[in-house]
Amino acid sequence: MKKLAIMGSGNGSNFEAIIKHFQNRNDVEIICLCNVKDAYIFERAKNLGIKSQHLPFGESFEYFSQNKFDLVVLAGYMRILPENVLKAMGDVINIHPALLPSFKGKDSIRDAYECGVKVSGVTVHYVVPEVDSGRIIAQYPVFIDNGMHLDEFEAEMHAVEHKLYPIVVEKVLDDKVFDFQDLMKNECSGGCSSGCDGGCCK
Ligand code: GRF
Repeated sequence: MKKLAIMGSGNGSNFEAIIKHFQNRNDVEIICLCNVKDAYIFERAKNLGIKSQHLPFGESFEYFSQNKFDLVVLAGYMRILPENVLKAMGDVINIHPALLPSFKGKDSIRDAYECGVKVSGVTVHYVVPEVDSGRIIAQYPVFIDNGMHLDEFEAEMHAVEHKLYPIVVEKVLDDKVFDFQDLMKNECSGGCSSGCDGGCCK
């Protein structure tokens, strides 16, 4: 049995996308950890039947010293984890809504848009003590057409996150390498004959 921890602080839409992707994997045990007591991610965990736990930031070192995981996935986790905690956590990955190393920080979607970039995208990377700086595992582009509104761009970025992250999490957990074909395979042109769960085929 593999052990996976998913850590968030708020909405939890990436958490939900990962859980749905893993629903047929009964060899993976998943727990949701959140540092914010009344975050919506707890509601999602409950509805999805996933074990969850409130983990205050200050208790992280102790928790991860006692509880070991094959992989820890950050999904909207809004605190900076220091080196000693990261060491206790083992392998930790994060998703960032920009093409790193450009547009680090929490307002990356707006920053990229206001800067006028024509291509942005989503990055999955290993977590190191310096924010948004670890080695890049996967990226996927999002094009910003002329006249595209910020909210449309934002919606597309989140849609790409929800497709990319579950696949990359599974690859890393299984010690496999991500490549673009993995993402294409999950896209469905309308027939739903290739394992599509219906989510992309409306
Ligand atoms: C996502 O945009 C993610 O890239 C960033 O925080 C946001 C979390 O959203 N790190 P959600 O909680 O998964 O809905």
